[in-house]
Parts: sequence; C-alpha cells; structure tokens
Amino acid sequence: MEAKKRGSFTGSIGFVLAAAGSAVGLGNIWRFPYLAAKYGGGIFLLVYLILAVTLGFTLMTTEIAIGRKTGKSAIEAYRALDKRFSFLGYLAALVPVIIFPYYCVIGGWVMKYLTVFITGGAQASAQTGFFEDFIAMPVEPLGWLALYVGVTALVVLFGVEKGVEKVSRIMMPVLVILSIVIAVYSITLPGALEGVRYYLIPDFSRFSVTTVLAAMGQMFYSMSLAMGIMITYGSYMKKDTDLEKSVGKIEIFDTGIAFIAGLMVVPAVFALSGGDPKALNQGAGLMFVTLPKVFYNMGQGSFLGTIVGAAFFLLVLFAALTSSISLMETIVSFTGDRLHWSRKKACLIVALVSFGIGIPSSLGYGPLRFLQPLGFSILDFFDFLSNSVLMPVVALITCIFIAYFVGVKTVADEVRLSSKFRREKLFTVVIKYLAPICIILILLSSVLDGLGMIQI
Ligand code: TRP
Repeated sequence: MEAKKRGSFTGSIGFVLAAAGSAVGLGNIWRFPYLAAKYGGGIFLLVYLILAVTLGFTLMTTEIAIGRKTGKSAIEAYRALDKRFSFLGYLAALVPVIIFPYYCVIGGWVMKYLTVFITGGAQASAQTGFFEDFIAMPVEPLGWLALYVGVTALVVLFGVEKGVEKVSRIMMPVLVILSIVIAVYSITLPGALEGVRYYLIPDFSRFSVTTVLAAMGQMFYSMSLAMGIMITYGSYMKKDTDLEKSVGKIEIFDTGIAFIAGLMVVPAVFALSGGDPKALNQGAGLMFVTLPKVFYNMGQGSFLGTIVGAAFFLLVLFAALTSSISLMETIVSFTGDRLHWSRKKACLIVALVSFGIGIPSSLGYGPLRFLQPLGFSILDFFDFLSNSVLMPVVALITCIFIAYFVGVKTVADEVRLSSKFRREKLFTVVIKYLAPICIILILLSSVLDGLGMIQI
C-alpha cells in the first residue's frame, strides 16, 4: 500500500469486491450473530439497519471520498486536509493494532474447528463443554494463534495477497450459498421458529443505549470504518467510478452476509437449547458452540455433518484471512513507513508483537480467567476498547472535522465527480447534527454507566 505503487481498481466491480473483501470477515459471521443474540435479536437488527443506512453510509462515503480526493492513506490524508488533525490519522491507525491480535485468536479457533472436522471429530465437537474445554487449555489455543498469525504474516511478507484474494473471490460466493443452505436448515429445526421470531421481530422493551452502542460498534467493525481503512481503499478508486453506488453495494453485501449468519446461528440456539436465555448470552463463543451441534444434527452423526462442517470452517477461514491480511498490511505499511523498517523486518516485528498481545486474549478464558477488566474477559475487553470506545471517538471527530473544518462541500464535490450526489441532504444532516449528537450522548451514557453513575 505504498504511495509509489498506488495503482487503481478497474471500474466499480473491482473496487466494490476489494472493499467488500476487507469488510466481510469474522465480523459478519462470528461477531454479528452473537451480538444479535445477546442484545435482544430483532431490536438489535433494526437499530443496526438504521445505523447502516445513516451513519454507516455517511462515514463510508466520507472516508472513500477523502481517500480518492487526496490519493493518500489515513494519516497523510488527514494531514493533507488540515495539519491540526493529523492526530486523527494516528488515532484511527491505533484501531487495527488493537483489533488484529484478538482477530487472530478467533482465527486460530476457526483453524482448530476446521482441523477437528477434517479429522472426523464432528461428534466430539458437538458435545457440550467441548468449546469451553478447548479455550480453557493453556497451550493449544496459543499454538493455533501462532499458526494463524504465521500464515497471515507469510502472505503479507511474500505479497501474495492477490493470490489469496483471487481464491477468496471464488470462495466468498460459495460461503454465501452454503450459509443460506445452513440457515434454511437451522430455521426448519424443531423449535427454531421461536428463534426466527426473536431475530426478526423487534421487542421495543429490550431497547437500551447499550443496544445502540453495541450495534454502532459492530457496524464500524463490520464495515471496516472509523480506522482509516476505507480512506486507503478510496485512494485507489478511479475518479469516474460511481462513489455513492459503490458505497451502497458494499453496505448491502456486508449487511446481507451478517444477516444470513444471524439466521444461521440464532434460530439454531433456540432449537438446541429450548430458548434458554443463558444460551443466548454465550458471548464470543456462540458460533463455535452452536454450529457444530447443527452440523452434527444435520447428518444424524453421519458423514454429511463432517463434510458440511469442514467446508463451512474452511470458507470462514478464507473470509477471515482476507480480513486479517488487510489488517496486518495496514499495520506493516504504517510502522514500516514511519520507522523506516524493511518490509521483512516490519512483518516479523508486527507478527511477534501481535502474537504477544494476543496471548492474554487467548489465555483469558483459561489460566488468566481471574483477570476481568471492567467485568470483561480479556478478549472482550480489547474488543470493547476498539469497537465501543475508540471507533466511536474516531467517528465523532471525523464527522466534526468534515462538517465544521473541511466543509461538507469538499466531500460532496468529490462524490459529484462521478455522479449526482443523490443522498446529499441525508449526508449533510447526519454528519453535521445527527451523528455528533448521537455519538456524544451514547458515549457519555455508556461511560457513566460503566462508572456505575447511572443505570441504563
Ligand atoms: N470488517 C472486518 C470483519 O468484518 C474486520 C475488520 C475490521 C477489518 N477492521 C478491518 C478487516 C480492517 C480489514 C481491515 O471481519
């Protein structure tokens, strides 16, 4: 992603696929379903959708437009627009540094499950307690973490992203089709209808500020917003590619996959647990607990479950890899440029440091279980820090910066280079008023809640 090599995507399809490749990952398949299950199902989905078409649309348009206008990546782009705001670029660059290590922990879990299914362990993985026992082990998850970081680092080091991207471009549609098949199967399990209702029909009594904060953090995370990534992608975008339409396509793609993943997991939780609220509150492990049971059930213990399970985890692994490669690439090019490290050195150091930071997240379910910052497991704490604190702050400052320092017109003019700006009014209202006010209120109430000063 160095400036010298800044090529550009051919046309809108190339751009949309590349940006969607970064956006679609564990966030959609692993994170979205467990949050939806935890935060009230339908109400979470509704809040998420509203946020996606308002705040998500606004931020993604802004980031891509800034990138395309300046032709630079985040830190340089903010600096180019206004020197006083270069700190915003650094703040944004911090987000991937927090996300990447724990992303790799989950990536390691996916590798473990793929191996279990390939080696015929479908039945064992469907047993209650299998997942808890696995993540509580002191050494094995660390091995998977190391392997996952290693694979990611090798791809980044040898610059074979293109190869992985090509493979995943074929795998992604297959993943979507397989997810639909699994979702249909989940929905038709006895007792699953209650779960479909929970997932689709909003229960307004479950609405709370925490729901909004969780949905907002998830939206940033899932669409790779508020961390400067889309600025970099925008810098590769051609001036005549329809920016607004591309944003719409990326959003539909990303949200569609998350929606299907929810449909795959949430109804199955009801079917397999009889709607026990404890099962809905599993947290980060939900996918790993529920889906193996679904796969096992599918084949009634026969070979079918093994094949579907192995195929599924392989596809998820590719979706995860494309995202973690892009995360690591960001960190490597940033540290490499700043500190004048060679690519090899930057890759090695970033991999080692990320593995190091990932260790506590991994051990937080086992030997370090007693460490509960703010009542979270360590992995959830990092997740909370980036998605519920840092990203809303970056988003807030970005909105204020564009609305009151740079001017909405700069973004609007950039959009207009390639087409009419159809939703300019919506964009203006959101970036000037709605987004700043809402984010401030949500952050304040969650901080106060965190400090125990109010009850939300
Ligand atoms: N959006 C990715 C997902 O849904 C995760 C992610 C967050 C990401 N930030 C990123 C991926 C930056 C690539 C680059 O899994």
